[in-house]
Amino acid sequence: MNEQTARPVALVTGAGRGIGLETAIDLSRRGWRTHVVWRNSNREELEQRFPGRVHRGDITSEDDCRRIVAAVLEVDGRLDGVVHAVGEYMAGPLEGLGADDLRHMLESNTLSAFTLIRSVRAQLRTYRGACIFFGAAGVEGLRARGDAAAYIMAKTALLSLVRSVAKEEAPFGVRINMLSPGLVPHEHSSEDTKALAGSVPAGRPGRGADLAHAAVWLLSSEAEHVTGQNMDVAGGWML
Ligand SMILES: NC(=O)c1ccc[n+]([C@@H]2O[C@H](COP(=O)([O-])OP(=O)(O)OC[C@H]3O[C@@H](n4cnc5c(N)ncnc54)[C@H](OP(=O)(O)O)[C@@H]3O)[C@@H](O)[C@H]2O)c1
Repeated sequence: MNEQTARPVALVTGAGRGIGLETAIDLSRRGWRTHVVWRNSNREELEQRFPGRVHRGDITSEDDCRRIVAAVLEVDGRLDGVVHAVGEYMAGPLEGLGADDLRHMLESNTLSAFTLIRSVRAQLRTYRGACIFFGAAGVEGLRARGDAAAYIMAKTALLSLVRSVAKEEAPFGVRINMLSPGLVPHEHSSEDTKALAGSVPAGRPGRGADLAHAAVWLLSSEAEHVTGQNMDVAGGWML
């Protein structure tokens, strides 16, 4: 194995912008051969900021997931780390929402994770790799959440998925964890996120880099005994 092929390989979804993009850039900087997935974002802008391989697809589609994983393997021959930063947001209480709204939240936040993990399990087992999903700060509290009730329902289901898959995969040396951001405003984040950004107890809103650093650690061998966990990276938001 030469120096190039010894470097681990990562796949980052939801990486057209925000936390996913910051994580992909950070992983590349630290020597990971990193592939990203974009869907509708501006590809030119993404390619300017991100030096690695770029694939287009919808992570709720099993066909797209299979195709993207095959493309990663064709180029780099292995897969060690997966970061799934897809998960659309919807503000407000349940009253006023229809079944389609809830279906959309579950598809974007929970089904996409289920679809992706099905596509990468075998490769992660081969390389004793790790996978990270994104929740939302406070999701473990099981409180009424009128601020974003359908979104938090979907993130809570995702945490349950993380714990179940972590237990299933632990005997194979595969680790599955969740990182839960607080408020990370960026150009495309929700108006709520931008409006509340000043109220984070730590005195500043989150940055993509805060999550990226935690993700890099969770993917590394330093975290080899950590699985099935959710970690808030939120500056005290939702404590
Ligand atoms: N930002 C925050 O304050 C915050 C707070 C709590 C939790 N989180 C969670 O942290 C994660 C990252 O958040 P973020 O704000 O950085 O992300 P984001 O801006 O909401 O979305 C990142 C990217 O996900 C892509 N995407 C959405 N659905 C997709 C699909 N089905 N297939 C492929 N790509 C898809 C979008 O691509 P296109 O634009 O190309 O369609 C988008 O560029 C999410 O899970 C989010 O729920 C964020």
